[in-house]
Amino acid sequence: MKTNGQTQPLGIDIGTSRICLARREEGQYRFETQLNAFVSIPHSAITESVLKKEKIPHSMSSGEIVVHGNESEKLAELLGIEMRRTMSKGMLNPSEPESLNMIRQMIASLAGEVKEKAKVCFTVPAAPLGAGDSLTYHEATLKQVLTELGFEAQPVNEGLAVVYSELEANNFTGIGVSCGAGLCNVCLAYLAVPVISFSVPLAGDYIDASAASVTGERANHIRMLKEESFHFNGFFPDKTHQVLGVYHDVLLGGLVDGMVDAFSHAGKSLRLNRPVPVVLSGGTAMPAGFRDRFEKILREKEFPMAISEVLLAPEPLHSAAKGALAAALTAS
Ligand SMILES: Nc1ncnc2c1ncn2[C@@H]1O[C@H](COP(=O)(O)OP(=O)(O)O)[C@@H](O)[C@H]1O
Ligand SMILES: [Mg+2]
Repeated sequence: MKTNGQTQPLGIDIGTSRICLARREEGQYRFETQLNAFVSIPHSAITESVLKKEKIPHSMSSGEIVVHGNESEKLAELLGIEMRRTMSKGMLNPSEPESLNMIRQMIASLAGEVKEKAKVCFTVPAAPLGAGDSLTYHEATLKQVLTELGFEAQPVNEGLAVVYSELEANNFTGIGVSCGAGLCNVCLAYLAVPVISFSVPLAGDYIDASAASVTGERANHIRMLKEESFHFNGFFPDKTHQVLGVYHDVLLGGLVDGMVDAFSHAGKSLRLNRPVPVVLSGGTAMPAGFRDRFEKILREKEFPMAISEVLLAPEPLHSAAKGALAAALTAS
């Protein structure tokens, strides 16, 4: 843990795969990220001392060493095991007993010591299309964790955070999309007011798990390969890339259909008098050609609103955290 007291507002994007913290220092945005995952390894004094020396976040639990954050991925790959995850499909993982404890430790080590009631805005997903309020527990529990750490915490819808981060030049009017690991979150905002938001349960984890079930490889392995070398343009070099292509298309189709559905229901009451931009963000929007493919699928549909342009956030992995920070800065 860092020793300097944290009084500046912070933005935290608490995602299914990564926790990203944004702060403003000397007029610059600074981001720090940890994988929202952990692995347990057998205890040995020598391993523990090496982890300390390397400043790798870890803790002890029932005689085992629990390594959390970025290093857990490499360890899982080395040991041939799956990482354990604190969240699943955008929310706290109900079948992981350690999830709260781990999230608390990861946020604490990213944020450093909190001396006074620093303002923090944290992202929360929107409910899936057609589903009622399934988010109360997730949101209230994260707020509790942050409050216990000493913060004054407020939730911000994830898609709206993307609008705050990327659409200032358009007076915060447009559609923010965050394609993460557990969900794709969408928010249509008009003059910074969220009008419609929803999530689609097709995202990076869906791609990894589906591809793994076809090729017989481990999902973690597929994910590393996807992040390293998947792209939409050109031919697929092998079977795994071809399978990844299929599931990316399923995701894009589901996302665009969800948008058509949600915005048609809102129908004429929207009456926006000008075309609005769509901005894509999140790790799943990063493969080369994703933006083009999304736009192609969108333009082929009878979309219920006029779209001016489709943009890719300049830093897709930081967009939601930056927007959460914008919310924290304006609220303080
Ligand atoms: N360069 C990349 N290419 C393709 N997918 C990526 C890349 N980087 C990250 N991802 C995928 O994006 C997802 C994580 O994105 P992120 O926005 O951090 O999600 P979350 O907020 O849900 O944790 C994971 O499924 C990950 O595999
Ligand atoms: Mg995210």
